[in-house]
Amino acid sequence: MCQDDKSFYDVIAGRRTIRRFKPEPVTRELLERLVDVGRLAPSAANLQPLEFIVVDETGLKAEVFPCLKWAAYIAPAGGPGPGEEPAAYIVTLANTKVREKMFEYDIGAAMENMLLAALAEGVGSCWLLSIDRDKLRAVLGVPEDYRVDSVLALGYPAEEPAAEVMGESCRYWKDADGRLHVPKRALSTVLHLNRF
Ligand SMILES: Cc1cc2nc3c(=O)[nH]c(=O)nc-3n(C[C@H](O)[C@H](O)[C@H](O)COP(=O)(O)O)c2cc1C
Repeated sequence: MCQDDKSFYDVIAGRRTIRRFKPEPVTRELLERLVDVGRLAPSAANLQPLEFIVVDETGLKAEVFPCLKWAAYIAPAGGPGPGEEPAAYIVTLANTKVREKMFEYDIGAAMENMLLAALAEGVGSCWLLSIDRDKLRAVLGVPEDYRVDSVLALGYPAEEPAAEVMGESCRYWKDADGRLHVPKRALSTVLHLNRF
């Protein structure tokens, strides 16, 4: 069931990365359901190399936060300010014994499943790859044969970024009111019908 009776299409099209969150918890039950749809995502050769760590413990969240880099184009303006930190994280791991490389497609599918399922419940998210992997591995006790790949930061949105038609630059920006604007290539510039 999607929020506000929006269609599935509208929920997907209206999704924006959220980096500022309300100080409201996301339930453990929802977090586990998100991992469940991550688990059910398409997987090349159905090898299913991915595993997930849910982080919702206050002390541990405070250790994860400094491992993350937010909104590089406008840093430090884009990241969560004090009191706007994520309510929880899902850290996505790839078992390199199951699949040494090319697990990134599986990661993409699992992450998108999880972030859209979160969105349908009104929970915003930011997918982060700019992470201090060594530090995060140590904080979470991840064994060496697992790649610490992506972090999904989650929480109820405290911002409402807007998509804009992209001009010259792909760089997102903040306006005078602090609202984030995200340039997106126009459909006409990416769509080819029948031939290039
Ligand atoms: C693979 C991937 C890695 C990303 N890594 C980061 C990151 O490390 N830090 C961050 O703030 N945002 C990160 N993002 C979010 C992008 O900046 C964001 O998706 C992009 O600006 C477009 O905005 P939108 O998600 O609202 O459409 C990442 C997104 C993807 C797909």
